[in-house]
Amino acid sequence: MSTTSITIQPIRIPESLETSDAEDFVASSELANLVTGQLWGNNDLWVSPAVRLEGARANDYEQSLLWAAKDGDRHVGRAVLEMTKRDNLHSAFVYVMVHPGFRRQGIARELLWTAEASARDHGRRVLQSYSEHRAGFDPEAADVLRAKTGTGSLPGSSAAVCFARSHGYELEQVERFSVLALPADDARIESLESQAAAKAAEYRLVVWEDVCPEEFVDQYALLRQRMSTDVPLGEIDYQEEAWDRARVRQGEEELRRKGGHSLVIAALQLASGELAGHTFLDYYPEKPDVIYQEDTLVLRAHRGHSLGMLMKAHNLLRVGRIWPEGQRLLTWNAAENEHMLAINDALGFVPAGYEAAWQKRLGASA
Ligand SMILES: CC(C)(COP(=O)(O)OP(=O)(O)OC[C@H]1O[C@@H](n2cnc3c(N)ncnc32)[C@H](O)[C@@H]1OP(=O)(O)O)[C@@H](O)C(=O)NCCC(=O)NCCS
Repeated sequence: MSTTSITIQPIRIPESLETSDAEDFVASSELANLVTGQLWGNNDLWVSPAVRLEGARANDYEQSLLWAAKDGDRHVGRAVLEMTKRDNLHSAFVYVMVHPGFRRQGIARELLWTAEASARDHGRRVLQSYSEHRAGFDPEAADVLRAKTGTGSLPGSSAAVCFARSHGYELEQVERFSVLALPADDARIESLESQAAAKAAEYRLVVWEDVCPEEFVDQYALLRQRMSTDVPLGEIDYQEEAWDRARVRQGEEELRRKGGHSLVIAALQLASGELAGHTFLDYYPEKPDVIYQEDTLVLRAHRGHSLGMLMKAHNLLRVGRIWPEGQRLLTWNAAENEHMLAINDALGFVPAGYEAAWQKRLGASA
């Protein structure tokens, strides 16, 4: 193994892509797209440098640090460290990747050590990461690695699995990545929607695009806060996020700067005037064929009224009208989240892959 010609350098997050110091940020974004495209065999998870830049800018709630592994001027590896500022001050999120032509030279190890040292310097004691895996491996094979939740497994020989394990990361959870081909089967979805509506007579749906109506923004912030821990997390050490109206507005403004749009549906309980749950989709006109299914949450006190199905079915029926170029809807759900997966299966989603949630507790000096 030799890494002598490789240097690890921090990447500055530039003011704009037009400034002279943006070159490294753009090259690193391109590397991220190359590695992700190769991993999945398609460009569904391609993200433009402009969108990555808006996502990487520090704000009141989070900051990102980036490093490059360079062979001369060429970017051959990348590490990202994301840290929240208002909550979860004990943890950080790390992700490393290496160009397929430069693997098994110790580059990812160097990148990871650099990011871990920085996390420690920022007082973070727990690191979380993820890895992505195509569907199609044999879940019963002798070498599969099972998640600590007891549900979901990964191919034990995959590079990411070997790398994560060899650096002390444990497989806490497996998420199923699913895709729904669009246009969806409207007749089937209308029927699911009306069955769900029959059980949800005490509620009415509230719909908005991009900007939450002022009258609901405080309640919507509470839903976003609950979403951070009401989903199954296994033993991932993640505490409830701190959301308020300013954070909702910051997220909307960030999406606007990215050129993206969102379609949100919430369920309003008529008697109490309380928002009981929400679901939303994101869409980027720069990549019109792909739509992302983001949060879906029903608050515990309101479960059992088919609100999850009602909101998702209603959103799906609208999607074809407002974003007709969408070809695929992508979503990620914990493998043990049976209720959500049952709703998605009924709507027509099919498994396309798996995402592993890794975690490591940093030792005092390790
Ligand atoms: C996982 C990944 C980052 C590894 O990059 P890399 O530069 O090849 O990794 P390194 O050379 O630093 O490997 C360090 C150790 O990890 C383990 N490892 C890495 N790749 C491995 C593989 N294909 N098979 C077995 N072990 C592997 C080994 O223990 C290796 O040490 P060794 O070479 O001395 O045996 C790279 O394959 C990649 O970019 N994959 C796609 C992105 C990704 O999944 N990132 C998330 C990782 S959690």
